[in-house]
Amino acid sequence: MQRITLSRFLIEQQRQDNNLPPQLRLLIEVVARACKAISFTINKGELGGVLGSLGQQNVQGEVQKKLDVIANDILLDANEWGGNLAALASEEMEAIHPIPHRYPKGEYLLVYDPIDGSSNIDVNLSVGTIFSVLKAPEAVSGRAVTEADFLQPGRQQVAAGYAIYGPQTTLVLTFGSGVFGFTLDREVGSWVLTQRNITIPAGHREFAVNMSNQRHWAPGMRRYVADCIAGRDGPRGADFNMRWTGSMVADIERILRRGGIFLYPWDSREPDRAGKLRLMYEANPLGLIIEQAGGAATDGARRILDIPPDSLHQRVAVVMGCTAEVAAVAGYAAEPP
Ligand code: AHG
Ligand code: MN
Ligand code: MN
Ligand code: MN
Repeated sequence: MQRITLSRFLIEQQRQDNNLPPQLRLLIEVVARACKAISFTINKGELGGVLGSLGQQNVQGEVQKKLDVIANDILLDANEWGGNLAALASEEMEAIHPIPHRYPKGEYLLVYDPIDGSSNIDVNLSVGTIFSVLKAPEAVSGRAVTEADFLQPGRQQVAAGYAIYGPQTTLVLTFGSGVFGFTLDREVGSWVLTQRNITIPAGHREFAVNMSNQRHWAPGMRRYVADCIAGRDGPRGADFNMRWTGSMVADIERILRRGGIFLYPWDSREPDRAGKLRLMYEANPLGLIIEQAGGAATDGARRILDIPPDSLHQRVAVVMGCTAEVAAVAGYAAEPP
């Protein structure tokens, strides 16, 4: 079989349909290259002195791991000078980062979670990078970019993707028309297309949720999970399995390959129906990928991609995966009372 590298795939996409403008193609090349650098950095582990925490917190009040900051800077340094972006923003930076005046200003906005699953870094489990690309409003060619320019609903994303640093290093991409999977060939150093048009397999009864938070959920969500656990003797009439990796990207990758559902429900400790996860750099990009793979993504009731963001680090409840199972959750009224 002929090997199709990411570069070739992107050029072919650009030729096939004009949905992929050259500047967006170059931007994705840069992000994918940065993910390669992050992968090699993570791989060094203890030998590279990259494990462990820094004595500081990010804007979410989480203690930053060294790799959260290293990966954040790799993505920043790779993207700043290329002329494809007007600004970027990240989980690990409180404010947006406009492209400095010494570089040309591009047409796009990049939002990313440099390391998703930070708590897994030091215990050698899969972590990943999640990214979302938006078009900058035209007006920013003549003025400074602001946070408000980023606050577009997820359906306006022009591209979304993630990389996983696990047993294999993989990259999953969508431009809003199908989902494509690549695997890193570490000897050659290139991403190779390994799956076209990824579709979530239907019917696999497997749910992913952090059960230790049950007491903080809405009653409907507790009932949904109780019914899954009740198995074939309960109202769902079928046995369910459970998996929870602690890295949303890894759980979503499993759902793309095997089916099932991922939940980070509304939690009474958070205001406004929000769970722990962040809308702009976790739920939106993964929501677009899940929808493009034939699945559904909601906050329990509303479609994630239709939620108008009100701030960069806004949190949201997340229910995503196989369409039929997401619809089943909606029937439980799993929102707050
Ligand atoms: P991050 O490491 O980017 O802060 O995100 C962690 C998220 C997500 O990846 C995962 O599903 C969830 O937090 C795990 O939360 P628990 O600590 O509740 O398991
Ligand atoms: Mn974090
Ligand atoms: Mn994350
Ligand atoms: Mn993170």
